[in-house]
Amino acid sequence: MKIAIVGTSGAVGQEFLRVLDERNFPIDELVLFGSARSAGNVYEFRDKQYEVKELKHNDDFKDIDIAFVSAGGSVSVEFAETITKHGAIMIDNSSAFRMDKDVPLVVPEVNGDDAKVRPKGIIANPNCSTIQMVVAMNVIEKISHIKRAHVATYQAASGAGAAAMDELINQFKQIAYNTDVTVEKFAYQLAYNLIPQIDVFTDNGYTKEELKMYNETRKIMHSEIEVSATCIRVPVLRSHSEVIWVETDRPVSVEEAKAAFSKAEGVILQDNPAEKEYPMPLFAAGKDPVYVGRIRQDIANPNGLTLWVVADQIKKGAALNAVQIAEYLIKEKAI
Ligand SMILES: NC(=O)c1ccc[n+]([C@@H]2O[C@H](COP(=O)([O-])OP(=O)(O)OC[C@H]3O[C@@H](n4cnc5c(N)ncnc54)[C@H](OP(=O)(O)O)[C@@H]3O)[C@@H](O)[C@H]2O)c1
Repeated sequence: MKIAIVGTSGAVGQEFLRVLDERNFPIDELVLFGSARSAGNVYEFRDKQYEVKELKHNDDFKDIDIAFVSAGGSVSVEFAETITKHGAIMIDNSSAFRMDKDVPLVVPEVNGDDAKVRPKGIIANPNCSTIQMVVAMNVIEKISHIKRAHVATYQAASGAGAAAMDELINQFKQIAYNTDVTVEKFAYQLAYNLIPQIDVFTDNGYTKEELKMYNETRKIMHSEIEVSATCIRVPVLRSHSEVIWVETDRPVSVEEAKAAFSKAEGVILQDNPAEKEYPMPLFAAGKDPVYVGRIRQDIANPNGLTLWVVADQIKKGAALNAVQIAEYLIKEKAI
């Protein structure tokens, strides 16, 4: 396979290098891209050095089979044609094409087959908070159809990129040394704080991030499910956490749900409150699975079930999911 990574220096780009290596992904040739800012930087991959090329409108993607793209929405829009015009498959981490009807939006555990039909040569990786939610909800959906879900997210600083993660680390240091706190990447100081805004507000009072969870979930699950999300930025470095309240057609017992989660692909059931065992972002960081715990019958809804779901959003929420899409295409000979 000839592989390109676009946005190599970023939080997701760096994770691509780790995930491709960890999973022993078959690579004959690797080409790294970035903007003029990081062009010329060198990264090591499997004992070889690779220099970052500047992303330009030329024929650099001529022999590329798969391009993993994570350089933001405007770069994806501007360079989609350049990347795909010679036949490379673009697996895009930005939100630019997710709701395009000619672009499949894929989480392999849920709708891998959708990746086979890609009229534009683009496959979109869903929003990070949506990915972990649908991996968990799909397990319940197989037991009884989910009519609606409410979700509250607790999203890590690194969800806003590598510089945002550094800003949080610096803020804690600055506070410890009693110096001025630098606030650039978030609207407010995140250290010792929560910010109830991710992305911009829309006319109905929801943020774009919250509406992504509504729209993307319906597309991935092929369902008319209603999703009401509230997304909160928390002073965690890595891994998003979510409380999800689902309402199903018929009541699903805790035992049924636990049995299904314990067998589900990509999921680890971590649910033993008596022993203080439940998922936490500190321990999910750097790991592959979506962790599920705190499963309860919802006392406010006879058809409701409550879940606590934690996953590393740079891994399963971004790089790992994209690489799993590529692995799926190879396995299905759909490349
Ligand atoms: N962080 C997450 O948890 C997460 C999860 C899911 C999806 N995503 C999505 O993935 C994408 C990247 O996120 P990130 O967190 O990795 O951001 P990041 O850490 O800020 O990195 C951004 C990357 O984009 C590159 N870039 C910017 N402008 C470019 C241009 N004109 N040409 C080529 N490369 C350019 C940067 O390269 P230079 O250093 O060369 O400028 C850098 O490598 C975004 O669309 C984001 O929404 C992120």
